[in-house]
Amino acid sequence: MRRKHVIFFVVVMFLTWNMLMYVTLVTKSPNALQHHHGDVKVKLNDLQEQIVLQIQENEKILHDLQQKQKQPSNEVVSQAVPKIVKPNNTGGLENKLSYNKVKADNVILPILMIACNRADAIQRSLDLVLKYRPDAKRFPIIVSQDCGHEETANMIQKYVTEHDVIHIKQPDLGKVNVPWPQRKFEGYYKISRHYKFALNQVFHTYNHSAVIIVEDDLDISPDFFEYFAATFRVLMSDNSLWCVSAWNDNGKRGMVKNDPELLHRTDFFPGLGWMMERNMWLELGPKWPDAFWDDWMRHPDQRKDRSCIRPEISRTSTFGKKGVSKGLFFEKHLKFIQLNEKYVAFTQKDLSYLIKENYDPAFHKFIYDLPEVSLKEVATDNTKHLSEVRVTYRTKPDFKAIAKHLGIMDDFKAGVERTAYRGVVSITFKDQRVHVAPPVEWKKYDLTWT
Ligand code: UD1
Ligand code: MN
Repeated sequence: MRRKHVIFFVVVMFLTWNMLMYVTLVTKSPNALQHHHGDVKVKLNDLQEQIVLQIQENEKILHDLQQKQKQPSNEVVSQAVPKIVKPNNTGGLENKLSYNKVKADNVILPILMIACNRADAIQRSLDLVLKYRPDAKRFPIIVSQDCGHEETANMIQKYVTEHDVIHIKQPDLGKVNVPWPQRKFEGYYKISRHYKFALNQVFHTYNHSAVIIVEDDLDISPDFFEYFAATFRVLMSDNSLWCVSAWNDNGKRGMVKNDPELLHRTDFFPGLGWMMERNMWLELGPKWPDAFWDDWMRHPDQRKDRSCIRPEISRTSTFGKKGVSKGLFFEKHLKFIQLNEKYVAFTQKDLSYLIKENYDPAFHKFIYDLPEVSLKEVATDNTKHLSEVRVTYRTKPDFKAIAKHLGIMDDFKAGVERTAYRGVVSITFKDQRVHVAPPVEWKKYDLTWT
């Protein structure tokens, strides 16, 4: 017993020390620091990022434990879990048939817009959605509002009166009970709480069979609805897909191929304008996390090896400079994402090539038939005569170095790089298509790469 006490005491002291260090470092005025050391701010950001990740990890572990404890009483809920996540092995033909047979055109796809306290943002987003929406019956708009902000509520009400927008309100506006070290993340707790409410409304009150979720600070492309209408059919006919997203995490101007028709599969959940089926919510809703819902989605316990469809050129872009995660990421990255401008009539096209059984063999062959070159060769324009090349990475530092050089997002979530499919990240670098790929014998993502 005593030994246990000593160990407990030491652990508590250690944690307290870490917390004190964290608070002292993070709460220092960044301006004052900037004058003294240019890179201290960068280090602080890194530190902060690491702490966020650590906290998220802890959250997940805690959550998993709680889930395990709850399991016996959860039986009724788990009965609702649908879609068997087992791609059938019958080759392309059967899927193609089911893709052709699938009746997707009459399914109502509501737009769920998540709002809080930005009246001007909701106005801008709603105006654009109304401008591009081809059919009010097929794409009803539900604005779900958190935060109880009156000016925003009044703005939404205008659209209720003048258009056919539905306005629902997240009823629980109380503070979230967040333990002290996480209090600065309260915003993420509120967002998660709001998503849970809003999605329950969509599926359990309004009884829809799918949803397209957007946030109030997103612009959409002219073919946003066309994109989701067409890919919905793919989503319905492929069990290895769990979402369609409008977003390319590496979709900066100059880094994308000038081909608005180009679509991909990705193992990284992109969010930022995305669609899922009712089945998914029946699976995820009961275990929805208290915070950081998007990173939670990226965890293998949720993703279960499923992929999303994403475009080469984004169908959304964010103008939310001021948001819960502050402006830094916006200024450094988000504002450069290119929004597609050219309308593609996706529903007139056969998208069955995106179905796993059709896509994977072709993808694998394409990638590993490409000429393999070194990063140096790409960087020094030595391979300019080749329109597409492959650069190999074997380790996490390998990938980071390549990513840094080519301007690719270099972070991992649960071992997966942003936009990656089967470990491959493809971008355009100085007009050349570069596919950053693991060795051909690659089997699965390494969870320790974070
Ligand atoms: C970032 C993500 C966002 C994700 C969120 C949670 C980007 C560009 N954005 O939010 O997709 O959902 O992290 O991990 O990566 N909101 C509420 N209640 C609140 C505060 C905000 O409902 O108390 C709503 C906002 O209206 C908005 C959404 O939550 O629709 C995200 O909030 P925002 O302030 O834009 O935060 P981001 O940092 O962009
Ligand atoms: Mn935002």
